[in-house]
Amino acid sequence: MPVLEQIVYGSVATGRTDSLLNAATILAESQRNNGRDGLTGALAAHEGHYIQVLEGPPGALDGLLRRLALDPRHRDIEIYGRTPIAARRFDGWSMANARITPALAPVLSRVMAETPRSPERLVALLTEAVAAD
Ligand SMILES: Cc1cc2nc3c(=O)[nH]c(=O)nc-3n(C[C@H](O)[C@H](O)[C@H](O)COP(=O)(O)O)c2cc1C
Repeated sequence: MPVLEQIVYGSVATGRTDSLLNAATILAESQRNNGRDGLTGALAAHEGHYIQVLEGPPGALDGLLRRLALDPRHRDIEIYGRTPIAARRFDGWSMANARITPALAPVLSRVMAETPRSPERLVALLTEAVAAD
């Protein structure tokens, strides 16, 4: 079985995170590239932050991290966790839109206010958001 890793990171959006156009553009680019690169995951936008779970082969993840670091649509990328995984959490999603409902928003705010931010709790929350959509 090929080696799989999961990365959970957050960044500060430089543009509006409540813009459907911004979100749709990023999702479309992600889905196109990730399908090619064997990556899956979920992306959330919340209170001016992006929160993303990425999973796939380590080399493809490193390539994406390099591109993400150069992307002017966000800054201050902080990796909360990088870990080997036995199976994908977002199998079948080249990039899922993790829509943060009003019910999930206060929970996510609490997790984002913690130091350190818990990658496990963020993955659980994004999984819930994708499932609820
Ligand atoms: C918050 C955020 C998440 C992104 N997620 C991905 C992703 O999952 N996959 C991807 O290929 N690009 C993603 N991008 C876009 C990359 O930073 C970069 O612009 C893109 O990969 C370049 O693709 P291109 O070489 O096809 O132009 C994301 C950008 C932002 C701001």
